Amino acid sequence: MKLILLGPPGSGKGTQAQILQEKFGLSKISTGDILRNAVANETPLGLKAKPYMEKGELVPDELILQILKERLHEIKDRPGFVLDGVPRNLNQGKILEKMLKELHITLTGVVEIEVPLPVIIDRLTLRRSCEKCGSVYTLKSDPSSHPTACSRCGGKLIHRSDDTIPVIEKRLKIYQAETLPLIRFYKEKGLLIQINGSLPIPKVAEILHDCLKVKGRN
Ligand code: AP5
Repeated sequence: MKLILLGPPGSGKGTQAQILQEKFGLSKISTGDILRNAVANETPLGLKAKPYMEKGELVPDELILQILKERLHEIKDRPGFVLDGVPRNLNQGKILEKMLKELHITLTGVVEIEVPLPVIIDRLTLRRSCEKCGSVYTLKSDPSSHPTACSRCGGKLIHRSDDTIPVIEKRLKIYQAETLPLIRFYKEKGLLIQINGSLPIPKVAEILHDCLKVKGRN
């Protein structure tokens, strides 16, 4: 299975990519995670990406395409992969298409996770991520029940610096301007699978799995 997961910020791409990775042993390429890791470690990539990420803007295509090229090369012989949040605009999509062709890889499908705006805002303002292992949590309405440390590794839980309302709004605008045309591109190619991402996490995973089965893509 070779999949791309697309969807607005907070739609659950990372969550579903993690489930697909665990359930089907797929390799995962998450450019958001790779970039956050590079920023945290102050690598040359991280230093270049940081100002864009802080403002909620897309990191320049040449940096993203370099990451994609390297990671695809590493995983090209493995049975399957899931790309989480990449490509993100038409240029990245078209160059990825060429890269895959050169590697003789055929995409199974492109999944768009659809979620309405109020749900996105709720999820992102309540999201906390583990600084150490990247596990993601959602705070509940009762503040006394908030976890202070990651239940997987004990790492500190942080609120992403791009999960503030002004930056979320910017990310959503960029999604509409840059990513929606890419979604149309995949629709025209007959690759698009649209799923409702506002249902509970296990239900979204189940629907996604069913869609892949129905289309004979699993
Ligand atoms: P990235 O990390 O990819 O951010 P994003 O696309 O804005 O997506 P998020 O990580 O915010 O959300 P998600 O859809 O993964 O949702 P999640 O599963 O965490 O990118 C960050 C930045 O890096 C970009 O702004 C850009 O600067 C740069 N970048 C990355 N890739 C790039 C590229 N290709 N080109 C250029 N720049 C790039 O879920 C969110 C929350 O909701 C969690 O708390 C989760 O527990 C919860 N949740 C998930 N699903 C459900 C559900 N079904 N029900 C209830 N809660 C749920």
